[in-house]
Amino acid sequence: MTSPEDYRRQDWRMVHDIPMVCAFSYHWERIDNFQSRPDDLVIATYPKSGTTWISEIVDMILNDGDPDKCKRDAIFNKVPMLEFAVPGKMSPGTEKLAKTSSPRLVKTHLPVQLLPMSFWENGCKMIYVARNAKDVAVSFYHFDLMNQMHPEPGTWEQYVEKYMAGRVAYGSWYDHVKGWWEKRKDHPILYLLYEDMKEDPKREIRKVMHFLGKDLKEEVLDRIVYHTSFEMMKENPTTNYTMVPNDVMDQSISPFMRKGIAGDWKNHFTVAQNETFNEDYERKMAGTTLQFRTEI
Ligand code: A3P
Repeated sequence: MTSPEDYRRQDWRMVHDIPMVCAFSYHWERIDNFQSRPDDLVIATYPKSGTTWISEIVDMILNDGDPDKCKRDAIFNKVPMLEFAVPGKMSPGTEKLAKTSSPRLVKTHLPVQLLPMSFWENGCKMIYVARNAKDVAVSFYHFDLMNQMHPEPGTWEQYVEKYMAGRVAYGSWYDHVKGWWEKRKDHPILYLLYEDMKEDPKREIRKVMHFLGKDLKEEVLDRIVYHTSFEMMKENPTTNYTMVPNDVMDQSISPFMRKGIAGDWKNHFTVAQNETFNEDYERKMAGTTLQFRTEI
């Protein structure tokens, strides 16, 4: 059997034309054939777009804003990641989900065309969170540095090139956000933006609450805003990923809860990089109604 060490720092592997983290590409038929349940709630994002944040918000809403109930387990157990796998070391997301009682929360970073058919057939509700391309690039770069299952990011300069070309895990950010944006026209998908959540978390939490068919009092919503703030989640061991072994995520290199702001890209992009990025962005995002803010 391949040891976990063999999956460390391998380059990504193509799955249905999408570059995937090698470890996750293991036995792909477990993903294609995955059986959803009609009351599953899918939380889908391109990596580093606020997945952990929206996951904790959803769990909080479903638990009527009770912080103690929400600390019952780590976020990666409460909301298992569908495609996750570290063969021989941690149980795959598909197995974990099969053992999870309903209603399940299912996390995925898969582009819309790779989501198992069963979720569409069952008409499962989905929440998608998108974040502006530049902040995602910065966050993903730091994540690739610390996450020992991901390919080495190289220098920042090299990384920006790879990112624009979609040669990073999960492929093109541009295709990902546009693909899910189109799909919301014929499926129950609540499409949220990280920047909106930063700007007015209570407003966005209320949207999620309505989408989930819940009705919570103002004071409960305020409690959810408080407990899902960056500062609180950074100190919370069930949300800050410190429960993941160091040889998978080395938080001494870069913490999982890194900065949690909109606009950090300005500290990383040079003027020239920014110009090239913007030109390329205009081409790739031409024709879509999807708009992002790169600062708030
Ligand atoms: P940064 O690296 O920019 O700080 P994901 O959960 O999809 O992997 O996304 C991680 C990113 O979301 C990180 O961004 C992290 O700091 C940020 N994040 C996590 N929880 C947050 C919160 N409660 N508020 C704002 N940002 C948060």
